[in-house]
Amino acid sequence: MRTDTEQTIFLRDYEPTPYRIVSVDLDFRITEEMTRVRAQLTIEPREETAPGTPLVLDGDGISLHSIAIDGAPLVLAAYAADETGLTVVEPPYRRFVLDTEVLLKPETNSKLMGLYRSSGTWCTQCEPEGFRRITYYLDRPDILAPFKVRITAPQSVAPVLLSNGNLIEQGAAGDGMHYVVWEDPFPKPAYLFALVAGDLGVIKDSFTTMSGREVELGIYCSHGKENECLYAMDSLKRSMAWDEKRFGREYDLDVFNIVAVSDFNFGAMENKGLNIFNDKLVFASPETASDANYASIERVIAHEYFHNWTGNRITCRDWFQLCLKEGLTVYRDQEFSSDERSRPVQRIHDVENLRVSQFPEDGGPLAHPPRPDRYREINNFYTTTVYQKGAEVVRMLATILGEDGFRKGMDLYFEHHDGDATTIEAFLKVFEEANGVDLGQFSRWYTEAGTPEVTVSEDYDAASQTYRLTLTQKTNPTPNQPEKAPFVIPVRFGLLGPNGSEMSWSAVSGGTVHDDLIILDKESVTISFEGIANKPVPSLFRGFSAPVRLNSGLGEDNLLFLARHDADPFNRWDALQSVSTHLLADAAQGRPWHADNIEALRQALLDTLDDAHLDDAFKAQAIGIPDETVIGRHIGRDIDPDSIARVRKEFITALVGPMDSKLEALFASLAITDAYSPGAGQAGRRALRTALLSLLVAGSGRGAALAERLYANAGNMTERSAALAISARNWTRDAPALLGDFRARYSGDALVFDKWLVASAQAGDDGVIERMRTILAAPDFPRTNPNRLRSLLGSFVMNNPAQFLKEDGSGFRFICEAVTEIDKVNPQVAARILTGFRVLPMLEERRRVAARAALESLRSQDGLSRNTQDILQRILAG
Ligand code: ARG
Ligand code: ZN
Repeated sequence: MRTDTEQTIFLRDYEPTPYRIVSVDLDFRITEEMTRVRAQLTIEPREETAPGTPLVLDGDGISLHSIAIDGAPLVLAAYAADETGLTVVEPPYRRFVLDTEVLLKPETNSKLMGLYRSSGTWCTQCEPEGFRRITYYLDRPDILAPFKVRITAPQSVAPVLLSNGNLIEQGAAGDGMHYVVWEDPFPKPAYLFALVAGDLGVIKDSFTTMSGREVELGIYCSHGKENECLYAMDSLKRSMAWDEKRFGREYDLDVFNIVAVSDFNFGAMENKGLNIFNDKLVFASPETASDANYASIERVIAHEYFHNWTGNRITCRDWFQLCLKEGLTVYRDQEFSSDERSRPVQRIHDVENLRVSQFPEDGGPLAHPPRPDRYREINNFYTTTVYQKGAEVVRMLATILGEDGFRKGMDLYFEHHDGDATTIEAFLKVFEEANGVDLGQFSRWYTEAGTPEVTVSEDYDAASQTYRLTLTQKTNPTPNQPEKAPFVIPVRFGLLGPNGSEMSWSAVSGGTVHDDLIILDKESVTISFEGIANKPVPSLFRGFSAPVRLNSGLGEDNLLFLARHDADPFNRWDALQSVSTHLLADAAQGRPWHADNIEALRQALLDTLDDAHLDDAFKAQAIGIPDETVIGRHIGRDIDPDSIARVRKEFITALVGPMDSKLEALFASLAITDAYSPGAGQAGRRALRTALLSLLVAGSGRGAALAERLYANAGNMTERSAALAISARNWTRDAPALLGDFRARYSGDALVFDKWLVASAQAGDDGVIERMRTILAAPDFPRTNPNRLRSLLGSFVMNNPAQFLKEDGSGFRFICEAVTEIDKVNPQVAARILTGFRVLPMLEERRRVAARAALESLRSQDGLSRNTQDILQRILAG
């Protein structure tokens, strides 16, 4: 195997290219057999480039058919071309046009990067390095150029021909062919290029921007699916309006198109004026999509749309800066969802997601900073750290600067950097300028990996009415970063008095405190509050004001006090979660809970359910029991997933038993008789019903039958799939029959089939691996489709720890065998599934040994992709 450093790319080595690309003219001729791509690139040397400097273009898996400069074909000695690139040995020392032709076979492109075919439709994915699979190019984000694209294709198979920008020409091209020309006036990096050709249905609409321009909107899909695109269209229009209102950002082209395709490596892609989407993030109907699917569609439509400003108009200088566009755009989509739905509920969702996926990444062998400084395979850095932690860092900036200060910085960012390919440093600088602050230490959030742990100690002196709060931060070493300096941690807080109301103080000293915000920027600060008449209960990190793990030291009594009284809904939820997490983690390590603990928690849950001021969606989250991954991460080492699963089951049984008839009555009373609507009101009510059902099935003999009945009578996919998933997870006596029924009922709809795959993969019985083998081995299993593979294997590794992490190693071996096969077809999907092994260092010894053995045997295979090798190497080094 090649050594580690050989193929590592470092941020510190960044240099601009010696040549720039002034404009791009592409001509695609598409036929069933092959696609010919002619590229005419207008290129010029930079001022500082020495004459005779070779021009080196990227290529990947393509072959050169012809080459000319300014119309004159090049002699063989003048260039070198192979699968990985094209070098022009001595280009003219002036502006010139490089004219190349390559031939592609999209049909056989199973990596789904570059130009490929999905259910007959030609489509592209270029971020981050797919354009080099289409033509030779300076395929990096700091090369910006205007594009003009001509597409010629058979009218019959490809009546629809799309690319970026505005349509400027179209017509017949003889022999049953037709052509179009698209022009995108905005200079863009090649990763934002897109092309779609196929026989597609469409829904159209329009949007009038704040300055009164009319934008034509289109969503393209396979014929017959048009009605399932209506919710996506509605989400798009709301996103466009929101970005104008909240950030003053207006859309800039006359057309905005979205295309739904069924083979796609991830969620969606923000290509300029032509977003391409995984169809699961477009299609929705009450019969086929769950409430959660609707919410994801709304979020991702918004996310890709928002990229038009944060990503496209202002892009990244290099891929190390990925979170410049992703973290910021996730922050923007989270804010959109908060404004469109319930802010506290959205916050809880986002934090739960962070804890379930980002915290484990940050605490394991794949940990990396939101802005990494090295990579071997950039595709492996589209991670929850870059996206979700990146968004948390932007959120902290907004918290520290305040809403106005943040907006001032954003305005300046758009003003100074429109049209730039820029960096995190430049982003932080506009906030410094706009607010007159120094963000030097704050920038560590971008450059350091790891989740800080904040420990609290308190001291109250009744005589002097002084309350002292000490906060201490500590961050464990992460790969390549042994030492950690203190972060700037914004702590939003309040002090609760004995009756649960907010206390105020006469004076405060010892640290930086503004109103309800403490800035913890040293290893430790002690803050003294004067004029405090009683010992308060501190409510810290309100709204989850920083992505840290909090060790509050509060016992169950105080946590339940917060759960009842805190003015901050996030902390009310979090207090309940903490109580359960602590009890579960202790018990899994042999320190069982006391009956009183459970009794107190039960009472708190019942009070929450009774509270008329709380909405259903909040209650649904409040009564949820932390999942096994969160408990495992809390324990942190020598994890035994069997004991966690067993203890969790006993815990829910003890908790639910004495209140099961109450919960059942509430479950029944929440049934909805109105017609289905995906809106927050109904969705919250269904979420609460589902949460109640989860508790009842896991913790009471009454649950299984309720789930079976809900499954049978459900009038929408939300309830039917929830009943199925809960039954399968708990492996009730009806589970096999429900799985069988669901499969038969929905065999024709691929996205609904995915729900069956997920439920099958998360089944709680010992037969799960065998059943998965059978599913995979079926001759008609679509083994090249990323959605199917992720639904089955991705949800198994991430959400079925008891089975994946089995002591006998069978889960590890199963996944490594599957990854071996998938890697040959689609390395990105293979590598993503493999990241499930990141828990390895946290496991107890026998499992660690078994996991290592499976990974070593995978590593010994020949011809593994760089994607898979990179993940293997980092996990095994950890
Ligand atoms: N830029 C796209 C988005 O966040 C995702 C591209 C993912 N690319 C990848 N290679 N994983 O909206
Ligand atoms: Zn994005």
